[in-house]
Amino acid sequence: MKIELSYWYKLLVPRAVVLISTVSKQGVSNAAPFSFVMPASVEPPMIAFASDPDHHTISNIRETGDFTVNIPGVDMLNQLWTCGEDFPKGVSEIRKAHLTEQKSKKIKSPKVAEALAQFECKLEAMYEAGDHIIVVGRVVDGEVKRGLFVKGKYNPLKARPLSHVGGNEFTLPEKIINAI
Ligand SMILES: Cc1cc2nc3c(=O)[nH]c(=O)nc-3n(C[C@H](O)[C@H](O)[C@H](O)COP(=O)(O)O)c2cc1C
Repeated sequence: MKIELSYWYKLLVPRAVVLISTVSKQGVSNAAPFSFVMPASVEPPMIAFASDPDHHTISNIRETGDFTVNIPGVDMLNQLWTCGEDFPKGVSEIRKAHLTEQKSKKIKSPKVAEALAQFECKLEAMYEAGDHIIVVGRVVDGEVKRGLFVKGKYNPLKARPLSHVGGNEFTLPEKIINAI
């Protein structure tokens, strides 16, 4: 069956979802969910995500040159959803969602304390890609909750990170299977 081309990305699921936190030059924090996200480089460590150019996340990153990638666990589902609502630029979604804003070590953008892991990123590049902008950030600091990353291995069954299916549907890791 042929698929309508504007729907193609709906088949590339589930996608890892992250909460990107930023701050404006006036000092108002912001957090928004993003699922168009991928690791872009291992050494140096870089992460990329695609955003609608009109999102406050983009204007904040242009203003400060940095952002934090927070990995939400299942406990943050409803708060993540609240952060996806359209609030005016002067309103902090982090506060609206009753999440805890935490000072980052190396950048201006805050991190979200409840997240499973947080990566502080400095803006490396922005590229136009159709109706989105691809933002590439260099990871300059990272934290993960104790017990989730042991001996170089991450345990997604224990961490229970959220992935996005579409609309308000999300999924969780169910089991690990091994290839040959
Ligand atoms: C689960 C989920 C994933 C999303 N992923 C993206 C994405 O990858 N790119 C994007 O531009 N918007 C995405 N959005 C929409 C933005 O998060 C939403 O429009 C948000 O209000 C933007 O906030 P901001 O204007 O404060 O940056 C997503 C929304 C949800 C709920």
